[in-house]
Parts: sequence; structure tokens; C-alpha cells
Amino acid sequence: MRRRHFLKLASTTTAFTAIGGIGWLLQSCKKDKMDMGKSVSVLEGSFDTPLPIPAIVKNPSLTAKSTTASILNGKTTRVFGYHESILGPTIKMMNGENANITFQNSLSEETNIHWHGLLIPASMDGHPENIVQAGSSFNFNFQINQRAGTYWYHPHPHGKTSHQVFMGLAGMFIVNDAEEASLNLPDNDYEIPLVIQDKRIYSDYSLNYSPTSGEVMTGYFGQYVLVNGVYAPYSNVAKRFYRMRVLNGSTARIYNLALSDSASFYVIGADGGLLNTSESVNSLLLAPGERADILVNFSNYSLGTEIYLQSNTFSNGVVQGTQSFQIMKFTVSKSETTPFTVPATLSVINPIPQTSASKTRTFDIAGMDMGSMGNMGGMGNMGSMAGMHTINGKSYDINRIDEEVTAGSTEIWVFDNSMGDEIHPMHIHGVQFQVLDRTGGRNTLIATEKGWKDTVLVMPQEKVRVIMTFPQNKGKFVLHCHNLEHEDSGMMLNFKIS
Ligand code: C2O
Ligand code: CU
Ligand code: CU
Repeated sequence: MRRRHFLKLASTTTAFTAIGGIGWLLQSCKKDKMDMGKSVSVLEGSFDTPLPIPAIVKNPSLTAKSTTASILNGKTTRVFGYHESILGPTIKMMNGENANITFQNSLSEETNIHWHGLLIPASMDGHPENIVQAGSSFNFNFQINQRAGTYWYHPHPHGKTSHQVFMGLAGMFIVNDAEEASLNLPDNDYEIPLVIQDKRIYSDYSLNYSPTSGEVMTGYFGQYVLVNGVYAPYSNVAKRFYRMRVLNGSTARIYNLALSDSASFYVIGADGGLLNTSESVNSLLLAPGERADILVNFSNYSLGTEIYLQSNTFSNGVVQGTQSFQIMKFTVSKSETTPFTVPATLSVINPIPQTSASKTRTFDIAGMDMGSMGNMGGMGNMGSMAGMHTINGKSYDINRIDEEVTAGSTEIWVFDNSMGDEIHPMHIHGVQFQVLDRTGGRNTLIATEKGWKDTVLVMPQEKVRVIMTFPQNKGKFVLHCHNLEHEDSGMMLNFKIS
């Protein structure tokens, strides 16, 4: 939100202050922001639960259902899942293969599946208007037509995405190809998927998704950080290199991934697959929706060493980044002498020339919809908060086409948060883009931003430019903030590829 404008409006719009609307909201937002900063610290765990690895499948039957899982202290929690427990299986397919996935909605509410990062026809993408009603089913049929990468799937019904993802509906979708296979990267037991998500959990171990008005603005944070559906797990590792595919499946929390001994690790891939070359880093920011493909070298530790994957503090956040906390533990427990050298060249990413762009579109992501705020009657639930965050001053309208682009054309899109003070990971459906630059704020690109992306973190004061060529998949797609509280409260637009 633009606080300056907000204050001005609050003091001059007497009609609103008279009925308590804006005035109340201003107080409430400021208060909640302050509360959030200190009340949702991550709790330290004991790291005595083994890390579960979701089953790897091809063409599964997925059923969204209410089920149970043991996510904390061995206690039972009611969750949503795509199989018998929280989350879903890891779908793994080769480029070129046909996906044929039957989906049954056994929830008591509408849902659907969006294949985040996949370049597939609009009718298969899980647009919010393509809903699978409670008790109904849908057959997803599409060809994989893109490079190897770590993609994922989750629900996308407008206004309900955040709640359903929070309850446990998410899974990884890994695409492999021959180029990646030729690199002989660590695989099987040495390739670990890590789905990181924070959850707020009541003392009776039930999940609690109930954002206040302030939390719709900042995002909803949990005090427990789960990996693959369990809190504070550990994994026994051998003295060798591991490949880790990390997905931030949280609704709003950003992680600044690091190892507890500050050791460096190699970033080899981003949302849309491998980078040109690996980049050695000591920490890596990962926003909701983003993926990182990393190599961690455990070969130089002595047996028995415990290393934590943790999140370091970071700046630029209003209510996030002030705490460092551990996420999971690796115990070096086995000697091994498998030689591995990080490949000098991973892939070839040809930069899309800026001169090939036929159009530049700018999206102002710093704004708020004042109109709908004046209309808020009942306070504190998502429905009444519609329109809190906007894109170009607009709140999501499922029937309105906001932008029209031409299949095969190249465009530059600018996400402008230079006037903003909230964090927005911006995501575009149906396409993979390259990040051109970031001005303001951090003023630089990080390792993952040198590869293909579908989600890019735009911090307060930043303006980020991305370039992309739209595929031939014509139809209606969305772009939105992947802070799911922002998305559900309207920070989303439709665009049409014609
Ligand atoms: Cu991962 Cu439109 O979402
Ligand atoms: Cu997506
Ligand atoms: Cu946002």
C-alpha cells in the first residue's frame, strides 16, 4: 500500500472516517503490522522426525480430499491432500510425453489444479474460471513441451487458493530431458525435493487459516515451518554431493536459505530449469511460488556433523526477515567416495534481445483499491477485504480481459513497486520469462534470476523488468502476486493470448 496516499485520503475523506471505514482500517492495518512482526516468530524444533519424500509418479490419479496427517509432534491434524496425506505425489515426466491426469474433487468445496510453470493450453491451466465443483472430476490432458525444470501444482479457485494451499494442496511436477540427463547430476536418493511451507497451528494441533485484515495485507504467517509436510525434520546424508529441488510453497513467507555453518552451495537452476553455469552462494532468497535447484556438498564434513538448512535475516521486508531460524537438519552419517564435480557448463540460455520486444507494459503493483475499502462492511474476513492490493489500480474481475498479447510476440513487462512498501512475488501463467534488470531496492539480480523464471520477487522500492515470448497456447491466463493472501484479495489480472 502507499501509506502516504493512504494517510492523506484518511484525513480528507470525512465521509469514510465518519462511518469509521478508512479510519478503522488505518488503525487496524498499522496495529496488525506491528503485531505481525513480533507475534509470528518461527518456533525452534527438535529435528527428530525423518524427512518424508513424496512418492514419484507419472500420470497419477489425483483426488483432492480432506484427510489427516502427522505434521507436528506425532499428533494427528486434519489437512487437505491430493492423496492419503498432506500434499501430493511428485509428478515426474520427460519433455515430449503426454500427461493424462484424472482429477477427482472430493472436497466439500470447489477447487481446480493449476500447473505452475508449465506451458500448456489455457483450457488445462487451471484458470480460476475453470472450476471443478465438489464431487466432480476433470481429466487433464496435455503434452509436456518445455525444458527440464522443477514446476509444481496447486489449486487456483479465486478467493480460495490461499486457504486450500495452506491446508495442504500442493505438489511438485518435475520435467526431465536429455540435456539434463547428460550432466549426470545426483539423482535417486541423492536428489531431494524440499517443499517448504509455514503453517499456523492451534494448540490442539489443528491448522488455523484465519487471516485478519492486517494479515491480508502483509500475508499470513505460521509459527511452524514444515518441509514435505512435517515440522522440523532431519535427513541422514552421505559424504557426497546432493541435489536439492526447493519449492517455497508458503502463502506469504520468504526464506533466505543458507546452511548453518555458512558454507556455500551451488545454485544450478531456477523456476524454468538449469542456468548457464552454476553460481556459488552463501544464501539465497526464495519467495512464495519460486523454486531453486541447488547442489550441496557434504563430502568434507566428518561423520556425525549436523548441518541445518536455515533462513537468514534479510532487509527490505516490513514484517518479514527479522528472524533467522532453522528449517531442517542434515546429519552426515555415511562415508562415500562417489566423485562428482559440478559441471562447468549446465545449459545454454540465449538472452532474448530487448530489440525483439514489440511492446512494453508497465504494471503498477504498489497500489490499493480505495473504492472497495469504503464498501467494507463486516471486518476481518477475506470476502470483505476484496480489492486490498491492486495491479494498475484494478482488483481482479474474472470476466474482464485486462491485457491482450499476440502469440509468438515478445514483450517487456515492468513490475513497478517503486512507490510500494509491501513485498510482491509476481507470477505470470503460461510463459517462462527472463529477468532483464531490477532498479531501486536491491538494484541487482540474484543467482536464480539469471535463468528462466515464472515468478519474480519485487521488494518495496523496486522496479523489475522481464522479457518473454508468448507461446502459441491461445486463450485466457492470469498474472498475479504469489503472496496468496494478496492474490485472493484481488491482486490478479487476466491476460489473453490471441
Ligand atoms: Cu502458482 Cu497462479 O499460481
Ligand atoms: Cu502459475
Ligand atoms: Cu503481493
